[in-house]
Amino acid sequence: MALSPQWLDELKTRTTLSALIMRTTKLTRAGNEWKACCPFHQEKTPSFYVNDAKGFYHCFGCQAHGSAIDWMMQQHGLEFMDAVKELAAAASMDVPAPDPRAARRAEERASLHDVMQAAQQWLMANLRQPVGGKARDYLSSRGFSQAICNEFGFGYAPDERQSLKQALGNFEEPMLIEAGLRIAVDDKEPYDRFRDRLMLPIQDARGRVIAFGGRILEKREGAPKYLNSPDTPLFDKSRTLYNLHRAAPAARKSGRLIAVEGYMDVIALAAAGFAEAVAPMGTALTEQQIELMWRACEKPVLCFDGDAAGQRAAMKAVVRALPLLRPGHTLQIVTLPEGLDPDDLIRQRGKAAMGKLLEAPRSMIDLIWSHESAAAPLASPEEKAGLKARLLAHVDSIADTDIRALYRRELLDRYGAFAFPPREARSGNRTAWQGRPGQRPAAPARMDPQHAANLRKAAEGASRDVLTRAVLHGFLRHPELIAPHADSLFELARALPQVAPLVDHLVDSAESLEAFENLPIFDADSVPPPPDNTRFSFLGEGQDPVEVREDLAEAVSLLVERPALEAAIKAATARFDADPEGAFAEQQLLRKRKLEIEERIGQMARKRAAAYAVETPTPDGAEPSEGASETE
Ligand code: UTP
Ligand code: MN
Repeated sequence: MALSPQWLDELKTRTTLSALIMRTTKLTRAGNEWKACCPFHQEKTPSFYVNDAKGFYHCFGCQAHGSAIDWMMQQHGLEFMDAVKELAAAASMDVPAPDPRAARRAEERASLHDVMQAAQQWLMANLRQPVGGKARDYLSSRGFSQAICNEFGFGYAPDERQSLKQALGNFEEPMLIEAGLRIAVDDKEPYDRFRDRLMLPIQDARGRVIAFGGRILEKREGAPKYLNSPDTPLFDKSRTLYNLHRAAPAARKSGRLIAVEGYMDVIALAAAGFAEAVAPMGTALTEQQIELMWRACEKPVLCFDGDAAGQRAAMKAVVRALPLLRPGHTLQIVTLPEGLDPDDLIRQRGKAAMGKLLEAPRSMIDLIWSHESAAAPLASPEEKAGLKARLLAHVDSIADTDIRALYRRELLDRYGAFAFPPREARSGNRTAWQGRPGQRPAAPARMDPQHAANLRKAAEGASRDVLTRAVLHGFLRHPELIAPHADSLFELARALPQVAPLVDHLVDSAESLEAFENLPIFDADSVPPPPDNTRFSFLGEGQDPVEVREDLAEAVSLLVERPALEAAIKAATARFDADPEGAFAEQQLLRKRKLEIEERIGQMARKRAAAYAVETPTPDGAEPSEGASETE
């Protein structure tokens, strides 16, 4: 629906911004303007100003700035058109309808709102009548106060098939059906959807009733505990969050938004003073719901059950959120003690216990790590490679490049610490590493030239694979980096038996580097790079030491990962008969990772090639040869 700038200007002119803001935020006069403590951030002295003449608000503290429409969107969480409609209604302006069909739909929706409003009035009234006695008893048995019951609009639907129709007699049957209040099956007499249920109104961001949830009062065989309205022109459950219209303004004040699983949890939280809670409609959190939450708070806290289902739900939400992440926005996760929902927890352990849990949420990355590292056994290299592939698949789903890079680095750090723990922590090693783990010699490393020359010869013969040879030469040229990578080197030796003797020698020499300080100065020229490959930074002269260290670390980790991946692919293939779907999915993931590795190796080599070309232009203009990733 395109609104003309003139029409929008008229709307803004007719709206007194200070009066609008005053509905939720206390303003005091400041000359021609109004001021307040900013509702968008925490502060003790006012830096939020409202200028009616100019029609905008501005905060000098947090730079929040906008018009009446922005206010309705940012402070009340409305969509643009809803904000416009609300303001237009207050200003007695008609929102221009672009075409007659849309106009008719809008009209129908408007009258559906009337139906829902009337139904809500009737349901609430029932609760005060004798017919609502059972429901009143139920509410007091759960400890909800009268005030909370009124605030949340509890009602009761009697145990009859036609009572709603009679009560709402001035609405046509088709409207009642479209509103989801009555059910029509074939040509039988339609009947009331909600019968003998405690009723809860579900409201949109503007507080209008758009659906109902109905709870049974006592256990009944075959009856679901909650019955919800179906999707209707007013109600799209994937775009609705229960209680958002109360929680959003509260969240903007407290800087916190809590997502729980159940309606009753929201209400119990509100009763305990946590006004900023929302719940999805009994389904997993959708992308739209996550975006809705982010409008009210940048780091909503998911507060899910400690049981397996709750944890699956949390992980599902996290996986959904990954592609949507943008700077500043994330989800946090609180895991409740198993078997307790927030309502139970508050009742059994008090609101302080709830508050304490909410103060120590876990990060998304933490949840991903613990979920994936607990998902399968991790004893073999194949299983470890599987973990790495799963972690990187999550990383890949992040669209924001900065966030993706940070996730990759942190998850790989955790993976590295787990897959290659410091030597003392492991047993059954082929050679015990005697050096002090983590300690790197500060001075340039030294190695006896004769010894270095012998090692070089061995390295040349050890492998025909370009990367393997490059890495071995890299360590020869930078022996101070051997100690920190000893474990990866042993891993490599296990996968490639022909390099095992060389690895042992390398590690031995590195030990003596630390043990004897008076070795001759290591001379890079005594270990020339392999003739066919000068492209990796760690094989070049005068490279940035930080780059050398990072590149060599990455190259060795790729080198170790490659055979593990091969084995994992084989293992997945072997599982095909038993678990075709799972094995296929796993294989796809592993294959993808393998391609990534090859690509990355190519990149590292090319980067070096580019740098090399700039530094030392080759007279014959020879292209650096491809093939860093070719294997034997
Ligand atoms: P819970 O059973 O955890 O809800 O279901 P609750 O709020 O704690 O309910 P009480 O405390 O037993 O009254 C979580 C949510 O799943 C949906 C509802 O949205 C509920 O709030 N649900 C649950 C259904 O839609 N249908 C059901 O049969 C059960
Ligand atoms: Mn409950």
